[in-house]
Amino acid sequence: MLKEDANQLTSILTCKKDFPILQSKNRNKPLVYLDSASTAQKPHAVINALSHFYAHDYANIHRGIYELSERASVLYENVRVNVKRFINAKSEKEIVFLRGATEAINLIAQCYGRPQWQAGDEVIVSEMEHHSNIVPWLLLKEQIGIVLKVIPVSASGELDLDTYQTLFSARTKLVAVTHASNVLGTINPVNEMTAIAHAHSVPILIDGAQAVPHVAVDVAEIDCDFYVFSSHKMYGPSGIGVLYAKTKHLQNMPPYQGGGGMIETVSFNEVTFATIPQRFEAGTPDIAGVIAFGAALDYLTRIGMLSIYQHETSILNDAQAKLAMIPGLRMIGMAKNKVGVISFVLDHIHPHDVGTVLDHEGIAIRAGHHCAMPLMERFGLPATVRVSLGIYNNEKDIDALVEAIYLAKRLFD
Ligand code: ALA
Repeated sequence: MLKEDANQLTSILTCKKDFPILQSKNRNKPLVYLDSASTAQKPHAVINALSHFYAHDYANIHRGIYELSERASVLYENVRVNVKRFINAKSEKEIVFLRGATEAINLIAQCYGRPQWQAGDEVIVSEMEHHSNIVPWLLLKEQIGIVLKVIPVSASGELDLDTYQTLFSARTKLVAVTHASNVLGTINPVNEMTAIAHAHSVPILIDGAQAVPHVAVDVAEIDCDFYVFSSHKMYGPSGIGVLYAKTKHLQNMPPYQGGGGMIETVSFNEVTFATIPQRFEAGTPDIAGVIAFGAALDYLTRIGMLSIYQHETSILNDAQAKLAMIPGLRMIGMAKNKVGVISFVLDHIHPHDVGTVLDHEGIAIRAGHHCAMPLMERFGLPATVRVSLGIYNNEKDIDALVEAIYLAKRLFD
């Protein structure tokens, strides 16, 4: 951590000032950023860590025999330990750095699934998955003929756990579900779902991309086999992500890609591989990105995940109450346990038109299918408007949103 960052007394109520972009404008109006489920903005601590590393500590890692390279390697490996602590993994060897949650799920499909599954083997997913937790399995369906079974979503946006229990068969090889929905905000009961999977002797992969920035995640308590997430939704750089996997799985998986850094010996006839987790990190990684991700984890830790959850829940409740008062507005998914994500539609106005009006008022939201087309189909909608919260949002942001929605209604109704 840089000295100036360590001295910052960051609190959830004042943290907005730590994000330089949030002092800027969008369409010449003060930016109101309500698209953190898409990607989160970056605090000074992360931006400074990135430039400080390039200015003072940059060299390649795990290769150099000079001080600078050793220093860069230590900084990089310290982040692995930091990630281990942040999600309470047993060992830093269970932490693999990749490009993001998407790459992590593809790695599990190709290195865990493909080598050992046969045509007709089954993977259970849910109806609320992001395409990143559907398409890698569809690729496996094309490659080796696996079958997808789907846990349905209720009208309130919750998973139907009774049906989930009936989907297991002798051919079930994996459950792959999201921890929190990027469209509905629903936080799924992953502890219970893991216990159910394990009772059938089936491992479980949890896509934590939308959960880990908002709630404290403890992989030891969940007892999941795999947990994946992305730095860019956690106020860290884009292009960095984490695969957590239990040691027993990682040790038995072949490498994802071949190249430097993942080998022990190479000849023209054969190769032997490095131990885990390096076996899965071929090539020079985004070293600076990982180090700045470490700064993001420190930043979140200083604020505290409990404060973050409580603050975002209070803004979510305020937003849902205010949006519920708007005539012709229908929210999609009202689960009891949610992260700060609200999807809605407005009578007679296409979500993209709502998005355009909001944009002209300085408000950044996402409108569309949110990379969750099967979920849109479940609710019979082509698209929704999606508002998503981060640590920096406050009631003023919600008031600006509500005012802009009334403007859209006046313009289009
Ligand atoms: N997965 C991101 C979202 O939901 C991109 O917007």
